[in-house]
Amino acid sequence: MKPNVFVLFGSPRHNGYTACMLKYFFSCWDEIDAVVFDAYKENIKPCIHCGYCKKVRGCIYNDFIPVEKGLNNADVLIIASPVYELSFPSPLKAVFDRTQQYFEAKFSLGIQMPIQKHKAALLFASYGSTDSSGVEIMQKQLALAFRVMNAELLHTVVSANTDNERDFDKNLIYSELDKASQKLKQFLYALP
Ligand SMILES: Cc1cc2nc3c(=O)[nH]c(=O)nc-3n(C[C@H](O)[C@H](O)[C@H](O)COP(=O)(O)O)c2cc1C
Repeated sequence: MKPNVFVLFGSPRHNGYTACMLKYFFSCWDEIDAVVFDAYKENIKPCIHCGYCKKVRGCIYNDFIPVEKGLNNADVLIIASPVYELSFPSPLKAVFDRTQQYFEAKFSLGIQMPIQKHKAALLFASYGSTDSSGVEIMQKQLALAFRVMNAELLHTVVSANTDNERDFDKNLIYSELDKASQKLKQFLYALP
């Protein structure tokens, strides 16, 4: 199986720790169709709580179309992001805030499943300290957003303590990414 993977990439650094995790993960697959949405490059507008999506399916801004397309096509969703102030960097946080349109589609407009396709999700997070609470907060935020994005979090891989490069063990992270890859393959092969 050649899975369609949609990545929401939240780091401004293309050669940073998060990017490195993503590159290694891709190398674990013989065949993969990946679309990477670079949140810093795309810089979508933040939700302004205008109420449009409460009345009409969609959003007053049209810059979310590539995200919606990615969500509708994907078998797998990957959130790859550094921790900023115990959360997602603001361009990626804006993406999750904009999924409010799906919440309103469901609860105000009665559209049961605004994103039809169910998908497995992985979280790759990188943070400078040894304090994992940023990742726990990210997981809580994703639990909300995933309900309307029709995704289920299968596995999380972290690069922790990146401020302390001397203690940073790349091989340990690679073996965690191998495990995530295996778990995802089992999930995908079990699909009907
Ligand atoms: C604005 C900013 C806020 C940050 N906030 C946190 C934080 O709350 N907790 C933490 O452990 N590291 C924090 N960091 C460190 C980054 O998470 C860390 O350097 C990460 O590995 C960067 O990932 P990247 O190389 O993929 O961009 C912060 C860094 C920046 C620039």
